Amino acid sequence: MALLHILTLDAYESALRRPSRPLDGVNQRTRTLLDDMYETMREANGVGLAAPQVGVLRRAVVIDVGDGRIDLVNPVITATEGEQEDREGCLSLPDECGIVKRPMKVTVQALDRNGEPFTLTGEGLLARALCHEIDHLDGVLYVDKASRMLTPEELEELESE
Ligand code: NI
Repeated sequence: MALLHILTLDAYESALRRPSRPLDGVNQRTRTLLDDMYETMREANGVGLAAPQVGVLRRAVVIDVGDGRIDLVNPVITATEGEQEDREGCLSLPDECGIVKRPMKVTVQALDRNGEPFTLTGEGLLARALCHEIDHLDGVLYVDKASRMLTPEELEELESE
């Protein structure tokens, strides 16, 4: 595995704002990308990472909200339910945090790391992570949807928690 460079918004016209293309299938190269993304995400203490964040405009996502690793290739949200409003951050926008409304429950269809289709339903933080990462594949960032950003004082308070 290898650590990859996470793009930040400093490069505003970067991959982060462009739509990613679906993968034709899953091969060893895809698995290596997913492995490198997972290692990179863990190193950065994140709970999710999308391929465009490391400069690869492909629809691949890794998530781990503490219940184990989930690899998603070509993920599509097929159903949503309810609503939640909470803090949200992004490894591509370091030292920032916003309040974002998301569905409470999300169902996603995707391919796994072996190219097998699967369906996943996530609630709470997992639902939030699924929405956030799949947005990345369309060049959408949480700041586009945030009702407000946290103030420096609020961020400081967060860090001391
Ligand atoms: Ni993000």
